[in-house]
Amino acid sequence: MARTFFVGGNFKMNGLKESIKAIVEQLNAAELPSNVEVVIAPPALYLDWAQTHLKQATVEIAAQNSFDKNTGAYTGEVAVEQIKDVGAKWVILGHSERRTILNETDEFVASKTKFALDNGLGVILCIGELLEERDAGKTIEVVNRQIDAVVEKVKDWSNIVIAYEPVWAIGTGLAATPEDAQAVHAAIRKHLVEVIGAEQAENTRIIYGGSVNGKNAKSFNGAADIDGFLVGGASLKPEFVDIINARQ
Ligand code: PGA
Repeated sequence: MARTFFVGGNFKMNGLKESIKAIVEQLNAAELPSNVEVVIAPPALYLDWAQTHLKQATVEIAAQNSFDKNTGAYTGEVAVEQIKDVGAKWVILGHSERRTILNETDEFVASKTKFALDNGLGVILCIGELLEERDAGKTIEVVNRQIDAVVEKVKDWSNIVIAYEPVWAIGTGLAATPEDAQAVHAAIRKHLVEVIGAEQAENTRIIYGGSVNGKNAKSFNGAADIDGFLVGGASLKPEFVDIINARQ
């Protein structure tokens, strides 16, 4: 089964009503390929707003985080049920900014992943190594550890998209080379074969994130294990449409 190309736009803590509406309207006006799944992740406050303005059938909305418990006394958190209530279908979990700045552990990310999946959201599961881990030759060890924490809790990976995002490439303008990214993606898929079986490993999308832009996106074409992108900065700009079209 061919894996459907997947492009996510992570707005991070950016945008106000007007700019988010403008981005959504730009997507509405664009001619988007029907063979690419596109998901945009505005800040939680604007999920409803983005969904209200979205008119493109191939674009869905994601939250940037969710909690591992149902609605209740958890001040400041966002429930999966609330995310679904405003029409969003996905959540980004384990982003390195949350792992490093908010101190989220592998175990907590895994717990949130399980809860989101069990309650009907798709999960864009972010993994990736720090620069010092890469320099120490620990990239594969780190991403495998991050995956294994989820494997311990989740057996069905059909609603997970893995986003490999080397932390040193995020927001730096220094994207991984297609060769380096492909090598890590292939290693991730090899590990998936071992921990969730060959069929699920073959079907799981592994997308690349870290300084992807309208200019470099096409350079990843031909990398057999790169099934799309998770885009930060460039998802706020018109070039996001070029990234969506990179595989055409
Ligand atoms: P960037 O961010 O595209 O701005 O590097 C990617 C991400 O953090 O998902």
